[in-house]
Amino acid sequence: MRLEDKTALVTGAGSGIGRACALAYAREGAKVMVSDINAANGEATTELIRDAGGTASFYKTDVTRADEVEDLIKRTVETYKSLDCACNNAGIAGKLGMSAADYPEENFDQVIAVNLKGVWLCMKYQIRQMLLQQGGSIVNMASAAGLKAIPNAAYTASKHGVIGLTRTSAQTYSREGIRINAVCPGYVPTPAVQPALEVPGMKDRLSEMHPIGRLGDEDEIAEAVVWLSSDAASFVCGHALSVDGGLVIQ
Ligand code: NAI
Repeated sequence: MRLEDKTALVTGAGSGIGRACALAYAREGAKVMVSDINAANGEATTELIRDAGGTASFYKTDVTRADEVEDLIKRTVETYKSLDCACNNAGIAGKLGMSAADYPEENFDQVIAVNLKGVWLCMKYQIRQMLLQQGGSIVNMASAAGLKAIPNAAYTASKHGVIGLTRTSAQTYSREGIRINAVCPGYVPTPAVQPALEVPGMKDRLSEMHPIGRLGDEDEIAEAVVWLSSDAASFVCGHALSVDGGLVIQ
């Protein structure tokens, strides 16, 4: 129970890695505010936590909307009295295989709005609350594509941006007791990655790209998020932690 008596918030918690993070926070004893733009999926995550004996509430939020994000943080504090851990996970894949010269402007804007501006908006209101409390921990979901290029211009740019935002914010707020880090997963077979996995032979090719020889599991990413959120990582600030079976070492 590494997070007993803590309050944790996860965005994009209705699916994939975000759902695994919400469940892992709850297993460690945190009260969890589950958030997603998809209400049915978010409510389903909340039910899974409650069925396992944990404490959770759902609040529908589009992370690209400042008013909704501000309300989410307010609701979290009204419900659970504090915000100790936040995992800014909501993200979209954009156009796989699309390079800079070809990217449709509308899709580029959308990827940046969700993956980068969304993380910034969440941090903006989370940090304000954590300054009032004099402490907290934020984990932003970046990607191996935040550290090396993949053939998806907007996604690569957005995830490099998440790491930059993590570092500049850690530089500013670590002295205030707020630790801010990022996690950089390799490929995990979630609904976001499903279209790519349906291409014949793609699952094997993606698996072989990882020195460990397989894709990741959501729970392996959630474990890193819990660790960074916990006091066990008390001296870790502004770090971009690869959880990727060795993908970026090549
Ligand atoms: P997913 O598609 O299974 O889950 C993403 C969740 O975010 C969904 O529930 C979706 O409704 C929600 N969402 C989308 N737009 C939103 C918005 N505007 N506001 C609030 N919620 C929104 O995807 P997955 O794979 O679980 O991805 C989670 C995070 O992990 C993303 O940031 C993704 O970029 C990152 N990631 C995923 C990898 C993978 O291989 N699956 C690898 C590296 C990073």
